[in-house]
Amino acid sequence: MAEHTFLRGPKDWWRQAVVYQIYPRSYADNNGDGIGDLKGITSRVPYLKELGVDAVWLSPFYPSELADGGYDVADYRNIDPRIGTLEEFDEMLEALHAVGIRVFVDVVPNHSSDQHEWFQAALKAPKGSPERDRYIFRDGKGEHGEIRPSELCSHFGPTAWTRITEPDGTPGQWYMHLFAKEQPDFNWDNQEVRDDFIKTARFWSDRGVDGFRIDVAHALVKNLKDGHLPERLSFDLSVMKNDGTDDLFDRDEVHEIYKSWRQVYNEYDPPRVAVAEAWVHANRRAAYASEEGLGQSFSFDLAFEPWNAKKFHNTIQYNLDASAKTGSSNTWVFSNHDVIRHATRFGLDAESLSNLPKWFRSADRESKINKELGLARARAATMLIFALPGSTYLYQGEELGLHEPLNIPSEQMQDPQWFRSEGSISRDGCRVPMPWTSTGSSFGFGPGGAHLPQPEWFKDVNVEKQDGVAGSTLELYRTALMLRKGLVCAEKLTWNKHWFNSNVLDFTRPNGWRSVTNFGNKPIKLPKGKVLLSSGPINANSIPGNTTVWLQS
Ligand code: GLC
Ligand code: CA
Repeated sequence: MAEHTFLRGPKDWWRQAVVYQIYPRSYADNNGDGIGDLKGITSRVPYLKELGVDAVWLSPFYPSELADGGYDVADYRNIDPRIGTLEEFDEMLEALHAVGIRVFVDVVPNHSSDQHEWFQAALKAPKGSPERDRYIFRDGKGEHGEIRPSELCSHFGPTAWTRITEPDGTPGQWYMHLFAKEQPDFNWDNQEVRDDFIKTARFWSDRGVDGFRIDVAHALVKNLKDGHLPERLSFDLSVMKNDGTDDLFDRDEVHEIYKSWRQVYNEYDPPRVAVAEAWVHANRRAAYASEEGLGQSFSFDLAFEPWNAKKFHNTIQYNLDASAKTGSSNTWVFSNHDVIRHATRFGLDAESLSNLPKWFRSADRESKINKELGLARARAATMLIFALPGSTYLYQGEELGLHEPLNIPSEQMQDPQWFRSEGSISRDGCRVPMPWTSTGSSFGFGPGGAHLPQPEWFKDVNVEKQDGVAGSTLELYRTALMLRKGLVCAEKLTWNKHWFNSNVLDFTRPNGWRSVTNFGNKPIKLPKGKVLLSSGPINANSIPGNTTVWLQS
């Protein structure tokens, strides 16, 4: 294992880290086949360094048939040949580490791809075999087993059960998949499954990977004891129990798994870190973020919050209180590969925001976005979360203030959610390849085309256009991240009250770093202190609406 001097730093680097999510297929394409690759990422290391992020998190780059954008993993300890090789991975890691950027990889433990060798073996093996026991195979109901074993929906379709054809050609058993049918769920009661994920944790940790993002961390253990089969026709949080006894999600037993992973992570120096993607009741996040567990858990609260000072305040305070209890650190997130880009979300009118699928279906969806306002708010929002205690997860392209591309023709959509929702919502927009230049066949994404169509307006919104341009969103991120490095301090803040204006969020950190956000549309008085940075133009005495200012007081 290569020695990296920066790894000797303090063990809690992750507490205040700014982690930049890369969606590998859509970041940079080195060989011109239209698919982003590891060499492409390596070629952007200088860019990432200049941006000033502390770590990158790579969404899955493993061999995959892409039934779910790579979250259908066929081999957990390898690289998709379209994305690169293990040697290229090591080169990328080396290059990132050399400039002090840590690396998170994505672990997808709830399900594999149906192309995984274990699932293929299960299909070929008989009912009741050890091969089938690694997944959740059950007999169907009805005279000939033709009725699915239970009424259970999936995230990407009406049913979580798919029937197989037995090796002898007869209709056979059914297997459970909480996502697409190409994503069979593992049986986490099976010891081989447990052992294999430990092997995967060691595999990437040995290579020098610093952290892991754990996909659907709350779903692994299900109540399947004594022939029980969960029934559920909605995965809405409101129908999920919040006491650890739900049939499908967030069962207390899941933490035994993470404890065993933590033991492995702690064998490394510094210990490997992990962040859970757990869509659970807010009161249940703490267990995932515990010291003996994964250590950190995403809070997606702000990714759904409308632009409203009071709501932001309550959410921020709730999360600060929660992390104070667990001793973990906060995770502030506005955008990722699963949600509408926040510049667009913040630019939507209230009606569209209240029913995103309806907005998305409407032919004039683009006209419902106030792009300028959305961008101003996004910039203000980002400065606000940068000033908060805890870590921030950024999503590629947000540093350009990118809006959601909404022009993808239906025949080019790739997201299973699009097919399942009959065109009501798609995650493809936020996965459109990055624009690096104003011209070229794919705006600098690569020498060829792009696997998802890029909008024409990328010619005006790209790295080349913003690089070195004062006031651009890219320069705002760069400056903010640079200043932040010198300002991060103990996990504390004090709210400064604005008795007569409920549109302001204003707080000071113990070192005098003050952040003031004007959520309203009317200007507010600029407090005393040295202005360090503002998310938009300010006047001598006032902060315009939808703007954040950092001051040193
Ligand atoms: C997570 C991923 C999402 C994926 C799902 C199934 O929610 O973020 O992209 O579709 O898990 O793996
Ligand atoms: Ca490529």
